[in-house]
Amino acid sequence: MTDRISEIIEKRRSIRKFKTDEVPEEFIRQMLEAARVAPSAKNRQPWRFMVIKGESKERILLEMEKGIKASGRSLFIPKKFRNGLVSAENTLRIMREAPVVILVFNTLSKNPYPPVFAGKRISEIHNTLSIGAAIENMLLCATGLGLGTLWIGNTVYAHKQITRYLGTKEQLASAVAVGYPDEEPEGRPRKTLDEICGGV
Ligand SMILES: Cc1cc2nc3c(=O)[nH]c(=O)nc-3n(C[C@H](O)[C@H](O)[C@H](O)COP(=O)(O)O)c2cc1C
Repeated sequence: MTDRISEIIEKRRSIRKFKTDEVPEEFIRQMLEAARVAPSAKNRQPWRFMVIKGESKERILLEMEKGIKASGRSLFIPKKFRNGLVSAENTLRIMREAPVVILVFNTLSKNPYPPVFAGKRISEIHNTLSIGAAIENMLLCATGLGLGTLWIGNTVYAHKQITRYLGTKEQLASAVAVGYPDEEPEGRPRKTLDEICGGV
């Protein structure tokens, strides 16, 4: 891989240690612009972004903390998912340390917990895939700008608390922590091409 985009794709890592340096607003704007031009199913562009930092971030993360604690007490969370709570607590700490967090909403979907019917499920999948494309564009843009990012799905543990606090019915699909990296992790293991490619 030689060209710049390939270099960026290879260089990107999940960053879980950030410097305290502020992230220029212009860089965040460029990340959002990269998300804006992502492909989406039927060009529905089912995304909305909320940039949070400082006190507003702290307040929203307090809601996330409440959500994680409530999940720990919930009888509805099977034992095998309890390990996920440790990971969620760790993610919460990283979000607190990151100078900026971008919340990513799916404007065409709601609470992710109730089941959905088949017809609706197809468009839900396509909307979620579209949001994934937008997030990946943001991560790659950030890497190109020398920033580190962490894609966060652990917001699911506090979906109710965070969306209620923000007064939105939209689905909180993910969050992205952003800052200058304070670590240089090795590439994480990947399956080989042989393992993931093959005919039928
Ligand atoms: C949809 C999605 C959700 C993720 N959620 C979390 C998370 O909540 N906390 C976390 O620390 N990492 C999270 N990650 C990061 C993955 O753990 C990471 O991408 C994977 O281990 C590969 O490492 P790499 O990104 O450095 O290549 C998430 C990644 C994706 C794509």
